[in-house]
Amino acid sequence: MTQRYGIKIVGTGSYVPSRVLTNAELEKMVDTTDEWIRTRTGIEERHIAADNEPCSALAEQACLRALEAAGMTPEEVDLIIVATFTADAPLPNTACFVQKRIGATNAVCFSMEAACSGFVYAMTVAAGLLRSGGFRNALVVGSEKISSMVDWTDRNTCVLFGDGAGAVVLKRVDAAHDSLRAFKLGADGRYTDLLQCPAGGSAMPVTPEVLAGHLNTIKMEGREVFKLAVNAMVGASQDVLKQGGVSIDQVRWVIPHQANMRIISSVGKYLGVPDEKVYVNLQRYGNTSAASIPLALDELARSGQIKDGDHLVLTAFGGGLTWGAILLKW
Ligand code: COA
Repeated sequence: MTQRYGIKIVGTGSYVPSRVLTNAELEKMVDTTDEWIRTRTGIEERHIAADNEPCSALAEQACLRALEAAGMTPEEVDLIIVATFTADAPLPNTACFVQKRIGATNAVCFSMEAACSGFVYAMTVAAGLLRSGGFRNALVVGSEKISSMVDWTDRNTCVLFGDGAGAVVLKRVDAAHDSLRAFKLGADGRYTDLLQCPAGGSAMPVTPEVLAGHLNTIKMEGREVFKLAVNAMVGASQDVLKQGGVSIDQVRWVIPHQANMRIISSVGKYLGVPDEKVYVNLQRYGNTSAASIPLALDELARSGQIKDGDHLVLTAFGGGLTWGAILLKW
């Protein structure tokens, strides 16, 4: 069957809460140093949402900005997909809260859990639905309030994460103008233990014992995750370049999930792409999981650093394990 429709990004938006948590402040909270955090991760500061700012509130601001950039009203949105692992609540899904906040009364809404790969997964799913002809446009959002799931006594994890949201408006276009040139998604459930929040779901509901043991917070085997992350992002990126018939030299930006500077540098090195083509903003935000790629995309788009026709590779990796890459032609 020949493809009739494609997709195009017609607006981007992002939001980070105003409260900034610096490495110097973390030095007073756990046994760490600014120097350790900078040299091992590249992170200098991160933003932390207020108590009255759940995941959907961060998403709301990013969505409103993306809609404004697209010149669209909330009522015109057909579909909202929110990628997050820090949902407002187990029920209902966070996309419905976002719908209510922005007044997107005509949208179909659901959320997706693929941790830090969530935005790449959600973009792929949204593109599939738009290409099928059933929807004309979509808000695809990555939004995370990770501060609500961090164990603030665990130096191995609490220094890494931050809160924020990013969104794009996708529009259905003719197949000839399709921006989504290729995608590659992957998952390996053998590694569920490497990056997880053990309690708070149906396997281990929250009890006083769970709370005392901090089991409702993020646990991670950092070193193992590191190795797998580099291989998976490099492999997925090479796959989409091959599928799209685009060489790495033709790529304007590689936009990797912002987890750790050393992971990002390794991905750039193995792909053979110079540092100036690899977008990095994690020094200001830390790891914002599903929000990191749309946040980066919005910064690049708003600062005029992406031009029509530019090739972009978005690549991510996260708990699950999950990973993926997308080749876009802007
Ligand atoms: N401050 C000071 N010391 C710390 C610390 C902190 N915040 N966190 C860990 N350490 C210590 C460890 O306890 C360990 O001490 P030990 O040798 O006495 O046991 C030492 O630093 C080295 O730990 P190690 O795990 O070897 O460090 P590393 O070089 O692997 O860096 C990470 C740790 C977490 C930064 C790194 O493994 C990483 O980035 N992994 C990927 C994590 C990630 O991005 N996950 C999300 C994917 S989406």
